[in-house]
Amino acid sequence: MSVYTTLIRPLLFRLDAEKAHHMTVEGCRVMGAIPGVAALARRLLKVDDPVLRSEVAGLGFPNPVGLAAGWDKSGRALRMLDSLGFGFAEIGSVSARSSLGNPKPRLFRLPRDRAIIVNYGLPNDGADTVAARLAAHCPQQPLGVNIVKTNDGQDAPPCGTEEILADYERSVLLTHRYASYLMLNLSCPNVAAEGDFFSQPGNIRLLLQRLQPLSICCPVFLKVAPHDDADVHQRLLEQCEDFAFVRGFCFNLPPGKPESLHLNTPRDELADRPGAVAGRPVTALIDRCIAGLYSRMDRQRYAIIGAGGIFTAQDAYEKIRLGASLVQLYTAMIYEGPGVAKRICRGLSKLLRQDGFQCVAEAVGSGLTEASVPSAKPVC
Ligand SMILES: Cc1cc2nc3c(=O)[nH]c(=O)nc-3n(C[C@H](O)[C@H](O)[C@H](O)COP(=O)(O)O)c2cc1C
Repeated sequence: MSVYTTLIRPLLFRLDAEKAHHMTVEGCRVMGAIPGVAALARRLLKVDDPVLRSEVAGLGFPNPVGLAAGWDKSGRALRMLDSLGFGFAEIGSVSARSSLGNPKPRLFRLPRDRAIIVNYGLPNDGADTVAARLAAHCPQQPLGVNIVKTNDGQDAPPCGTEEILADYERSVLLTHRYASYLMLNLSCPNVAAEGDFFSQPGNIRLLLQRLQPLSICCPVFLKVAPHDDADVHQRLLEQCEDFAFVRGFCFNLPPGKPESLHLNTPRDELADRPGAVAGRPVTALIDRCIAGLYSRMDRQRYAIIGAGGIFTAQDAYEKIRLGASLVQLYTAMIYEGPGVAKRICRGLSKLLRQDGFQCVAEAVGSGLTEASVPSAKPVC
């Protein structure tokens, strides 16, 4: 029990979910602009523990627990992002042009499942505006920028390949100098028109070919659809092979409400709530995807950022043991509040020490069997 769960959450949960989201981001933006507030929050929420530090894709992380994309879509609350106890944060998804996203309502809580249904459809202020915010900001720890194709609305005509590639290229050009890493979102579950583009054979390679001449000055990760399928993982790795700037992967939410997601909320109650499920119910699927991809990928080159259903230190540890070098969360912030990263970090450092690990890197992949994962020497 915390002040958040006893006092603040009941008030926020009386509001429409999107309004509550908007209020919390704006609240953080305003607080971040008051001198001393971000530093105070940082002092209260930070966990400084050597066992949690790691180096991934050449970047130093004070702890492996990050804030996932979608919370601060347009980089409005940048000053507070370093102060919430997370070891890194990812803003976005950001697109070349601003977008209003899908029609409202488009965010629905499922408290019985510790989940939220998201059908935002990528509203954001556009890469020009976000780049200007990033240029005026000096992050104290890694800050990722998540890039996606502009959503022009449900009635817009479908885009051709050239338009899709040019959209990503423009956002990358505008933001890469200010990002610690870029996450190319290739799989938004809530945008019908381009949702399938990157599942077509060869289209990921086309995008990477287009981006190669840009000499992107930070590591690039790909956020892909969560297929628990060896062939899909193999094809993904083959398409990335020639592009050294690609340093890792993250799995997005599955579109809709697949039968494989175990939900306590009766499915007939979900008929008028379009969108993808985030939170507890996606844990098992994402964990299987992490284990599958980790066991096939070149672990000297690539790292996995694991996001989906992390609420506790044990959840984070499980993803790390299955192959994630870093983890992210979003839904747990909604249910547990801003102390969640600190709580998970403290628990994670205990779990790591209990199992005799001196750093996070030693634990990455340690939960897979020898046969499926040939060992690679970790760097603490
Ligand atoms: C309200 C909401 C909005 C999101 N928006 C984005 C987004 O714009 N881009 C993106 O790549 N992922 C987005 N996500 C997905 C999260 O980044 C994350 O991958 C997913 O929610 C799984 O983590 P969780 O179970 O801890 O929420 C969003 C998730 C939620 C709940």
